[in-house]
Amino acid sequence: MPKANPVDILIIGGGMITHDQLLPSLYHLQRLGKVGRISICALNARPLKDMAEAPSLREAFPGQSFHSIPDHETEDPDRFYPDLYKEALASLPPDQVVVVAVPDPLHDRMIRAALTHGQNVLCVKPLVQKCAQAFEIEQLAKSKELFVGIEYHKRFDRRALIARKDYFAGKFGEFKIGEARMIEPWQYRYSNFQNWFTKENADPFTYVGCHYVDQVYFITGLRPVAVSVRGIEGTFPNGNAAYLWSLGVVTFENGGILSLINGLGYPDEGAGSNDQGINLFCEGKNGAALIRHNDQFRGVIHSYTTNCGPGGTHYNFINPDYFKYVPWPGEGLKPVGYGYDSVEAILAAIEQVRTVDSPEARRNILDEIDRKGLIATPANSFINELVTEAARLSLAHEGKEYRIVYEPTPHVVE
Ligand SMILES: NC(=O)c1ccc[n+]([C@@H]2O[C@H](COP(=O)([O-])OP(=O)(O)OC[C@H]3O[C@@H](n4cnc5c(N)ncnc54)[C@H](O)[C@@H]3O)[C@@H](O)[C@H]2O)c1
Repeated sequence: MPKANPVDILIIGGGMITHDQLLPSLYHLQRLGKVGRISICALNARPLKDMAEAPSLREAFPGQSFHSIPDHETEDPDRFYPDLYKEALASLPPDQVVVVAVPDPLHDRMIRAALTHGQNVLCVKPLVQKCAQAFEIEQLAKSKELFVGIEYHKRFDRRALIARKDYFAGKFGEFKIGEARMIEPWQYRYSNFQNWFTKENADPFTYVGCHYVDQVYFITGLRPVAVSVRGIEGTFPNGNAAYLWSLGVVTFENGGILSLINGLGYPDEGAGSNDQGINLFCEGKNGAALIRHNDQFRGVIHSYTTNCGPGGTHYNFINPDYFKYVPWPGEGLKPVGYGYDSVEAILAAIEQVRTVDSPEARRNILDEIDRKGLIATPANSFINELVTEAARLSLAHEGKEYRIVYEPTPHVVE
């Protein structure tokens, strides 16, 4: 029996990804009648006030708002409430959706709390930082017939979907060697990142390199078997020590190798708000094949009369594919791109699960989503946790290679 009301959403985390992608996608689904009440819980009220007043959100979604926890209209904006999410979870009716969008080390405890309260979960990548945690989350969700999806939005970029279809059809032969890069803007160093993107919590490889490791797995189906990552350390403006650049080398089960460079340092003055792309060289029976995605310059250049572009720029490479607001026949603006598509697909998967009542029927749908492998779930994308775990160990040991073994159970070894 379909559930009568559209699903309620609790977003935990009111930072950049919530503002730039998650909330606008959910607002759009709300006005399409697919989402009910939206609440956002953050550590303190200040980012929630900023979000409620954000001009881009007001312009795109006139008349829409979210329930703020803590209340940004009455609470001290700088008082911290690290455990308030527990109360927010307790007040949610069962079988709704919790969106986990907090710094990486907090994902594990918040996902478990959400599942314990009978909620489905959409978590930003990386799900968790250790493979054992991913397996435990998978088991907990399975035992309650709840859905957990990881928001690897690059999977919904049409170029990745086309490459996956054609690779699986045998058109590229076999992946042999590749390179990828994602360098995020210099200005990130001045953001809230300073407070959590520190050496013990995060690094550029696990922050954004993971997207391209996942892309190789998504496109080719090959599992990683060895990881080595070297970092370059520096300090944020507030003095916190961090890995600001990284070089990773990932070997796949067929012997194929991917090198990745990542960092927080793309010039703010540069065209395109970051630098990103991937080249995969492949071998067929009778010749070579290539998959080359320029994910930064997607063929669109806009030069403005003022410096209104990202980072205060005039001249910009526009990415129409990830996330943009465009005019549409309805009110305000409509979000388009794979950032929206990914959230929409995860919400649609959850709706599929919610619309059946019997535990067996829910289990069948959950198994089918795992099997299909389009939406990342703990069961079908745990290679990412293995790579994250190995990468964090490697970084701490100056680039030493860590191997991934899949039998009898997947784990990382020296
Ligand atoms: N490309 C991507 O898929 C992508 C991009 C950006 C961020 N992310 C991921 O999203 C997550 C958040 O990143 P961000 O850029 O939004 O970070 P951010 O620093 O801008 O925001 C973090 C938010 O978490 C909130 N928070 C921290 N502790 C909390 C607590 N105890 N209770 C409630 N809220 C709490 C803070 O108030 C803040 O609003 C990270 O895991 C990051 O890796 C993914």
